[in-house]
Amino acid sequence: MLLSLQLLLVLTLSIRTDGYYLSWIDECITSSPDLTDVEYLRSYYFNKDPWVQFNSTVGKFIGFGEYGVKNAEYWNNDPYVQQMQGEVERYCKHNLPIFYSAILDKTVKPVVQLRSEQQASAGHPALLMCSAYNFYPPVIDVYWLRDGKKVTTDVISTEEMADGDWYYQVHSHLEYTPTSGEKISCVVEHTSSKEPIIHNWDPTLPESERNKIAIGASGLVLGIILSAAGFIYYKKKSSGQWR
Ligand SMILES: *[C@@H]1O[C@H](CO)[C@@H](O)[C@H](O)[C@H]1NC(C)=O
Repeated sequence: MLLSLQLLLVLTLSIRTDGYYLSWIDECITSSPDLTDVEYLRSYYFNKDPWVQFNSTVGKFIGFGEYGVKNAEYWNNDPYVQQMQGEVERYCKHNLPIFYSAILDKTVKPVVQLRSEQQASAGHPALLMCSAYNFYPPVIDVYWLRDGKKVTTDVISTEEMADGDWYYQVHSHLEYTPTSGEKISCVVEHTSSKEPIIHNWDPTLPESERNKIAIGASGLVLGIILSAAGFIYYKKKSSGQWR
């Protein structure tokens, strides 16, 4: 499963007095849904300059500049440092699940299409296109396998493109010279799906060609039925007139 999503909970507060500006940012950072790696940071800024930061992984305040170092030392010997460490449980682990369910529960699985853009001909390689549509969130991994091995050359992929409705699409092109018996697949990994989504290329006939044949065949059958019906109708009518 692809999970390179990082959940960041940020709260900013500030105090302003004439000519001085003190602000701090609280951050809860995690990349795992079971919240085993939560890091809490409180960063103080004085007139926009970093001043003192608490980092729960270190378990201490770290100061910047002379005044910051002095203040960090003072706070590290104060119950304030334990209170900050407690924020991992009290603040982060309480709030992160709320944000997880608000964002990650809304994942939408991509619709994947694999098609031929160009068939191989003398001097021209074949071009396949693999597209993923209507997925959320935008973090996605689209790659190609040739006989089970990841293809690293002759692949061109677009960025994740926003449709403007919270859904995204992405396209990947593979240029290759077909050889008989090989197996080409497009693999899509997205947080909405535990298993990679794999589409195997069927080189017999491109889907669009098959569709054209299917439409043509349906038209032919319909034409035959209609003309037969017309012929029978005509026969009946004309035989009725002559009687
Ligand atoms: C917090 O401290 C840990 C351990 O030193 C470090 O790996 C991590 O990058 C720090 N976090 C930030 C945001 O600086």
